[in-house]
Formats: sequence, structure tokens, C-alpha cells
Amino acid sequence: MDSAIPMTQPKTTDSSSARRDTLTITDNRTAKTYEVPITNDTIRANDLRKIRVDESDFGMMSYDPAFNNTASCISRITYIDGDKGILRYRGYPIEELAEKSTYLETAYLLVHCELPTESQLKEWQHHVTHHTFIHESIKKFLDGFHYDAHPMGMLISTIAALSTFYPDAKHIFDPESRKKQIYRLIGKMPTIAAFSYRHTLGMPYVYPDNDLSYPGNFLNMLFRTSETRYRPNPTLEKALDVLFILHADHEQNCSANTIRGVGSSHVDPFCASAAATAALYGPLHGGANEEALRMLMEIGSVQKVPEFIKRVKAGETRLMGFGHRIYKNYDPRARIIKRIAYEVFDLMGKNPLLEIALECERIALEDEYFVKRKLYPNVDFYTGLIYQSMGFPMTMFPVLFAIPRMSGWVAQWEEMLLDAEQKIARPRQIYLGHDTRSYVPMEQRS
Ligand code: ACO
Repeated sequence: MDSAIPMTQPKTTDSSSARRDTLTITDNRTAKTYEVPITNDTIRANDLRKIRVDESDFGMMSYDPAFNNTASCISRITYIDGDKGILRYRGYPIEELAEKSTYLETAYLLVHCELPTESQLKEWQHHVTHHTFIHESIKKFLDGFHYDAHPMGMLISTIAALSTFYPDAKHIFDPESRKKQIYRLIGKMPTIAAFSYRHTLGMPYVYPDNDLSYPGNFLNMLFRTSETRYRPNPTLEKALDVLFILHADHEQNCSANTIRGVGSSHVDPFCASAAATAALYGPLHGGANEEALRMLMEIGSVQKVPEFIKRVKAGETRLMGFGHRIYKNYDPRARIIKRIAYEVFDLMGKNPLLEIALECERIALEDEYFVKRKLYPNVDFYTGLIYQSMGFPMTMFPVLFAIPRMSGWVAQWEEMLLDAEQKIARPRQIYLGHDTRSYVPMEQRS
């Protein structure tokens, strides 16, 4: 919709005139005035294109590297108020879901917009559970990875490879096909993740046990050794389930934007999810939990925290697990995670790095550098400590983030596909490179 209306006369400010939901822009280059509609506190970037110096002018654009102030979609999935520290999935506060829901129920909510009835939940659990097995050939190419391959690399590649096993996935506008791929993606994530982990240990793969819960089965596939039937510890099973709920979605973050962007080319959801998983791997996104723990280990003792904070303030390094593009307040997930940490430590013994983490947090919450920049602990600050206490190696931390995020990704992907306003994602650029110049033969180059 291009709805900027060029006005012949500059608009005069009349306080008595009725409120209009428009923005008046005066282009001082031409003295022309434009009235642009405002909807949901937003103007459409395309409306700026009417603002031109002359007929040959391309028209005005907005410049917003890293999408600091650009809405790329209309969404009804997740709401965040970063200043107040609010996070809701489909309107339900994260605190209530963490206390009362399960990960699979929350995944249903994200994908289907509403909490399920009892029979809907049973059916959903049945379908997800019955898509946990992976093709035997996948085991063969997992075997091809080097023994020290990072499990995120294995996970990304295997998710992409699923596209070759399920060619029906390319029928992205067939609702039945989409439903099936969503079962497959949510169902197979723990299996691929656990198999990648077992591969790095040189341990035999453990097949899914469909009588266990989603997190319980994951623990089974990771840690079962010689027992005939693996019984997950209920505290750890519950802790993992809550962590999965907290990580299920987070609106338009880097990986959600990736699945929307890649998916907008209409590639199948396995390839699009592999791209989202790759985005999550980065240390500024889902890889931050691994980096946060490495940082705590590097600091080494509570006494060395002030020295480390000094280095952070000097710009030599970052306090990993701190800061967020959206939250300028305590990340509500970090609050819940801190509580879970103590429950896990009661069972497994206190993680010795906890004291270092608490000291970093204490200093940072009082220090002007962090206070001024509104840097608070994010979801990744305490998760690493919990995962380590549960027996996970650090390389598995981003994997533990990726497993539950799949439900958010597929919800974002489907919403994008069904949004009539969406097209292939294609940003503009401001070209400041050379103008045309002629090719210079090698002997004439200096
Ligand atoms: N430690 C020290 N200083 C920081 C940190 C940090 N963790 N985060 C931001 N800052 C500082 C920056 O140096 C900058 O300071 P300046 O204004 O003096 O230049 C200011 O705070 C703003 O930082 P930006 O990088 O512009 O903020 P942005 O919104 O782009 O980045 C990000 C957000 C990437 C999360 C950043 O805070 C960061 O790198 N944190 C550490 C990594 C991390 O924990 N990532 C996980 C995020 S949560 C998630 O993805 C699940």
C-alpha cells in the first residue's frame, strides 16, 4: 500500500482540528509536505517512496542496519515489552506457562494459537512422539563426522538433510503437508541432538522410548547406558521441560528472522529450519550460553571478578549472558532460570561457578557502566550453570536451546507463509561504492 498523499500546501498546525492518525512530513529540499497514515504506531516504509526531489528520483527509503527500529511483519505469536520485562506466548505470561504448562502443550499453543483441549493435546503428543525416530541412513552420515565435531554443526547439517528424506515437504501451501513436517521437526530434534552427542562420545545411539515424556525421552537418548529401561530423574526432567518452555519462542530475534527470510523463498521447512539453527549457533545469539560458561571458567574465582569487569568496561571483552537488544530490564526468563538453578543444585550439588556468576551480577547491577546501558542478565547467563550441573558438556548448550526453539520457528514460518502481505524478503541498500569505471589491464595497475 502506497498511501502517502502529497499536499500542495504546507500543513499548518491547528490545535483545534480533530486528531488524525497521520504523520506530516515536510521535505525541506522541495518544501513539499506529505501526509502519511499511521497504523499501530507505525508508518509504512513504502509510503516514503512518494517523497522525491524530482521525477527521476527513486524516492526516499529508511536506513536501519540490524533492524533496530523496523517491524518486518505483523505477528500474533509472542509479545515482549523489553522495558517492563514482559514475555507472553499468544497472550499467556511466560511465568504462568513455566509453572503450569508442559513444553509440548506450549509448543501446541505456539503453533495452533490456542491452548489444546485434552483430546487435542493427546493427539498432538501422539503425533510428535511418533515422529521421533530418524531414518537409519541418518545414522550413517552422522558416523561420517569427526569425533570432535561440534554437535551444533551436526544438528544443522542433519536438519537440512531431512529435506532429502521428505521431498513431500516442498508442498508448503498444503496444510496437511505442513502439519506433518511440523510433527517431524519437533519430534526429531531431540533424537538428532542426542545422536550427535552420543557420536562425540563414541557411544551407541539410543532409540527413542515413546512411553517417556518429551524431555524424559531426550534424557534417555542422551544418558542411557546398560539399564534395560531408563527412568529420568523427575527433578531434572521437570527442570528441562521448564527450560524448554522458556526457550520456545522470542518473537523477531536473529533466528526467527532467518527462518522467515529463508522461508520466504518458499524453500522447504527443513532447509529453512537448518538456516535458523545456524543463526542460533552464533555467540551473540544461542551460542551465548556456551560462551557465558567459558567466561565464568576463565574468570576462575570470585576475587578475579572485579578485574574482569574492568576489562569489560575497557571494551576488551563482553560480559557474556548480559545485555539484550529488546530487554532493557531483567529478562523474565532469567528470573525463572535462577530459581530452577537452585532446584537442580539441591539435587546435583552446587555448581562452583555459581558464586562467580552471582558476583558478576551483583557488581554489574550496581556499576554505572551496566546501569547506564541497561545491561541485565539475559536467558543465557544462568542456563550454562544448570546444564553443566545436569551433566551436559558445553558444546551441547546451544543444542539445548535449539531443540525447543523449533516450535517457535515453525510457528513463525507458518505465520509468514500465510500472511498475504509477505513476499520474498529482499532489503534495499544504499550504494556508496564506485560509479562506473573501465576495466584496467594488469600491466597498468599500480
Ligand atoms: N558486556 C559489555 N558491554 C555490553 C554488553 C555486554 N554483554 N552488551 C552490550 N554492551 C554495551 C556495548 O558495548 C554498547 O556500549 P557503547 O554504547 O558504549 O558502545 C552498548 O552496551 C550497547 O550494545 P550493543 O552491542 O549496541 O547492543 P545490541 O542490542 O546490538 O546487542 C547483544 C545486544 C548482542 C545481546 C549484546 O548485549 C551482547 O553482545 N551481549 C553478550 C552476548 C549475549 O549474551 N547474547 C545473548 C543474547 S540473548 C539471546 O540471543 C538468547
